[in-house]
Amino acid sequence: MDDLNSYLRSLVVGLKEKVPLINGEYVTAINFDNAATTPPLKSVLEEVVNFIPWYSSVHRGTGYKSILSSDLYEEGRTVIKEFVNADKTGDTVIYTKNATESINLLAYMLAQDNDGNEVVLTTLMEHLANDLPWRDKFQVDYIGIDSCGGLLLEDLEMKLRKYRGRVKLVTVTGASNVTGYKNPIDKIAGLTHKYGAKLLVDGAQLVPHCPIDMKGYDSPEHIDYLVFSAHKMYAPFGLGVLIGPKEIFERYQPVYRGGGAVKLVSQRFIKWDSAPYKYETGTPNVIGVVALVAAIRALTAIGMESVYNCEKELIEYAAEGLASIPGMRLYGAESDERIGIVSFSIEGVYHRLLAKALAGEAGIAVRSGLFCAHPYVERLMGITDEELEFYKENPGVPLPGLIRVSLGLYNSFQEIDDLIDSLGWIVRNKATCLEEYQRIIDAVPGTSWRYKVRRETP
Ligand SMILES: Cc1ncc(COP(=O)(O)O)c(C=O)c1O
Repeated sequence: MDDLNSYLRSLVVGLKEKVPLINGEYVTAINFDNAATTPPLKSVLEEVVNFIPWYSSVHRGTGYKSILSSDLYEEGRTVIKEFVNADKTGDTVIYTKNATESINLLAYMLAQDNDGNEVVLTTLMEHLANDLPWRDKFQVDYIGIDSCGGLLLEDLEMKLRKYRGRVKLVTVTGASNVTGYKNPIDKIAGLTHKYGAKLLVDGAQLVPHCPIDMKGYDSPEHIDYLVFSAHKMYAPFGLGVLIGPKEIFERYQPVYRGGGAVKLVSQRFIKWDSAPYKYETGTPNVIGVVALVAAIRALTAIGMESVYNCEKELIEYAAEGLASIPGMRLYGAESDERIGIVSFSIEGVYHRLLAKALAGEAGIAVRSGLFCAHPYVERLMGITDEELEFYKENPGVPLPGLIRVSLGLYNSFQEIDDLIDSLGWIVRNKATCLEEYQRIIDAVPGTSWRYKVRRETP
């Protein structure tokens, strides 16, 4: 594992960067916020730099560079489909800017033939990206969770029966961005299809961390639609994807309108291009595609099973270490089916202060708050509707939340040891230490440590 970890670390950009602490010293940054975004792979940056001299307009040009750029852009769809085993001929890839836009795009499409009676079944454990786009377009019902935050499959089946014939879509996250729980996608797909509905998997947290198989159309466990973001899988530059059946995408009108999405326009008519082009209006993100393809090639060479196993070993080690901290409550340590995410709270310590203190004392980046999965975290924390009303009506009151540690393939046992040591130190010294961070949070810009970070990064 040590050799493998050193090798994996050698693939990633920015792991040696030093960041300032509150006392003015510099330490090597530790990043446990990979669920938000991952650092790039070196091979991704190399591919982008190699491609840049050839970068040109896509689809419309006749010059050599334009043809090359267009070919890479189109070949990207094949590479992406192969990576997730999408249907070779039936499925297509629509390029977007991230998973959020992909889900919104699908929602706007599917809403076009909603007769007003259709239902979308989502879950109580979703990121807001897979909740809010549906609310104003369909009747939405939420598949429940158990007291540990796991999805209740019997509730899914109950709701599929209840709304039989009206369910436009079942949409679930492949893995939670809060607890790291991996959902049983095969079973969910089987149930969804048994009741004649279609399935969207939000793969934003799943695709970068473990193997995924959309399976053939003839499999009852087939995934109908899949979305994910390149920036969460080591390929920045702003690309997302929506994968699904071309034949279904052909049925709908484009959501964004303009050049590149049409075959012919007169003052009287618009003849739209076919899918996926009619959904990719304007000048597309060819650099984003080059980056994602490079990331997919690198991840495939490592092996997604290896990525999953390495991160699993690390997160189990982290959960064990965290459990030893006095006052610790872990969310997401119960299930064996999980990716490298665990969230926690420490009794008597405000989440935001703790996150600030980890950065200011040890250069460790974690995330704190509700992680854009408000209803899920509120449920996990047992926050009542009355309490939520209170927070809504009193915007000055600090919001509740958790701390999240999320891993990438390059994180190490040593980094986890540093996290546990730092947390232990902060908890032991919380009376004096956290007061200091409260002052930082309260400070006006210009005197705060945040300001200093921006000014003094070497
Ligand atoms: C489960 C899940 N879905 C969707 C998203 C949205 O991804 P993006 O911000 O790349 O659109 C996130 C982001 O954290 C996520 O964790």
